[in-house]
Amino acid sequence: MTPSIRRASPGDITAITALGDRVVTDTYAALTPPGYVDALLATYWTAAAFAATLASPGDHLLVALDGDGVCGMAEAHQADAESATLWKLYVAAHQQGRGLGRRLIDAIRAELIPTTLWLRTEYLSANARAAGFYTAQGFKFERNEVEWIGQTPVKYTYVRRRL
Ligand SMILES: CC(C)(COP(=O)(O)OP(=O)(O)OC[C@H]1O[C@@H](n2cnc3c(N)ncnc32)[C@H](O)[C@@H]1OP(=O)(O)O)[C@@H](O)C(=O)NCCC(=O)NCCS
Repeated sequence: MTPSIRRASPGDITAITALGDRVVTDTYAALTPPGYVDALLATYWTAAAFAATLASPGDHLLVALDGDGVCGMAEAHQADAESATLWKLYVAAHQQGRGLGRRLIDAIRAELIPTTLWLRTEYLSANARAAGFYTAQGFKFERNEVEWIGQTPVKYTYVRRRL
C-alpha cells in the first residue's frame, strides 16, 4: 500500500524510536566507529527528545504509515523566517526507493512558513545513498565538517535547497 503521511502525535513516539533503532543501525553501523550508533540513538532518538519536538512550535515531526505501522519519519526545525533545517529523514528498508523520502520532504515543505526560502540538511559523507538522494532532490553542497570520535574522523556534508 502507498503510505499515508501525517503529523506525529505522542502516541507515535514508541514506533518512531523503534524505526530509528532499525534504520539508524542499518544505515550507519558499517560506516561509523564503534559506539557511534548507540550514542546517536541515546541522544537524538529518545522518547524525551521526540516529546520535546512535539512540544516546540517551531519544530515539525511527520510520520508515514503503511499496513505495518510507522514506516517513515521526518523532523524539521524552522530556524528563522527564511530558513529551515531538516534534522531527520528516515524510511524503513521495505519502503526505500519507492518515493516516500521525496514525499516526506514535500510534506515538510508544506509545514514551513510561506516565507521560507532555504531548506538545509546534513548527512554523513560516507552515506552514498543519502548523497544521491539529496542531489536528486535539488540540494546543493554548502560545506563539509569533520567530527573526531576518539582517533577516527567522521565527515559530514551540509547541503541546502532553495524552496
Ligand atoms: C535516504 C532516504 C531518506 C531516501 O528515501 P527513499 O524513499 O529511499 O527515496 P525516494 O524513493 O523518495 O527517492 C526519490 C528520488 O530520489 C532518487 N534517488 C534516491 N536515492 C538515490 C540515489 N542513491 N542516487 C540517485 N538518486 C536517488 C530516486 O531515483 C527518486 O527519483 P524520482 O523522484 O525521480 O523517482 C531513504 O533511503 C532512507 O531512509 N535511507 C536510510 C536512512 C538515511 O540515510 N537517511 C538520510 C539521513 S541524512
